[in-house]
Amino acid sequence: MSNIQSNSRIGIFGFGCVGQGLYDVLQTIEQAGIEVAGICVKDKEKPRSLPASTFTYNPQDLLQDESITIFAELISDADEAYSIVTQALKAGKTIVSANKKMLASHLPELIELQHNYNGTLLYEAAVGGSIPIIRTLESYYSSEPLQQVSGILNGSSNFILSKMESEGLSYSLALQQAQELGFAETDPTLDVGGFDSVNKLCLITAHAFGLTITPEQILRFGIDTVRKEDLEFAKTINARVRLVASAEVNPEDELSLRVLPTLVTDQKELYHVTNETNGVTIDPVFAGQQFIKGLGAGSRPTGSAVWADVSAALSGYRYSYPKTAVKTIALNQDKKIDIYLRCPADSSLPEANWENLVKVQETGEAIYFTAILPVSELQNISSYLAGKQIFIAEITAEQAMDIALKFSENEAVVYS
Ligand code: HSE
Repeated sequence: MSNIQSNSRIGIFGFGCVGQGLYDVLQTIEQAGIEVAGICVKDKEKPRSLPASTFTYNPQDLLQDESITIFAELISDADEAYSIVTQALKAGKTIVSANKKMLASHLPELIELQHNYNGTLLYEAAVGGSIPIIRTLESYYSSEPLQQVSGILNGSSNFILSKMESEGLSYSLALQQAQELGFAETDPTLDVGGFDSVNKLCLITAHAFGLTITPEQILRFGIDTVRKEDLEFAKTINARVRLVASAEVNPEDELSLRVLPTLVTDQKELYHVTNETNGVTIDPVFAGQQFIKGLGAGSRPTGSAVWADVSAALSGYRYSYPKTAVKTIALNQDKKIDIYLRCPADSSLPEANWENLVKVQETGEAIYFTAILPVSELQNISSYLAGKQIFIAEITAEQAMDIALKFSENEAVVYS
């Protein structure tokens, strides 16, 4: 911290969960040596923990203040965040953002703006809360090829699944708790629908594999259709349901990107990642597999990640997107994956190139299947499946066999 200018002034946009976390960190770390120049918020009526003189309601009051060294954009409105970040970058300023939706939607433009105007944008807090995943991929693994980066990237979904499993909470009560604890997005559909994990995976992909892709290119299923029956089914094969985001490269340099509920066995690290904790596995070609976990949501953990970016930026750190120079990897969603499906009794599966489609169990309420399908086919039928409240989860080929054996007394029906 010694090389941070002691007269640095920070302008903060947003004073919600993350903004307050950053403020708290800045107040607690005495050596921070950073003066809060002002905090811009939207709602004039909302009671605040700081004197009214600390706040401004016009972003331009901060953006045009030449005495400010660095900005922290910590608001939930993605359009407003885009406008703040682009204005700062066009002025060649340094800004830290935690708005993963905005970042994922505009990443190529934001990279170009940094290049054209010599501004700096860092966003560690946007992915995995307190876990230093972006900087690890960007800096430490700048020159080692990676085979896979995958993990739990949404604290709220993991909190809900954990509470349903361990305390038998209903889905809606667990979601309500995630909201009360400040883990969930303002619109929690972003969490439980898998959108938030998709946005984070876009950012990971840019640093890990040098590809800027749009959120729509990623296969996405969330946990919004999960029922306690799915958790019970997972238990029969010693697994838990986890919402896993994965970016996986095959030997032909083809990259598969997906966010899917996954039945994770007790042999895997992610099985033991509970509540709002996130966990990410990195598979470098030479180093061997690594796993990093930490608090993925919440005021102080996310504030800590923003502070790490602020102090790094003030010391001159910026992203160079080193993997973009090596353009060998291309997105290819033809990878075939094994899946588990639970269809409500009044629904049926759509036409698709199902392989090994096996009915493993039928109850009054639902029919359970396992099958194999390419990721691209699942993308094509994802709206249909979501509309019919059909829950799907990725499984391994070994789990598919395990399920076939466990449920063989139910006379599994092979469809194709
Ligand atoms: N809503 C997000 C989550 C916050 O639950 O992970 C942290 O990005």
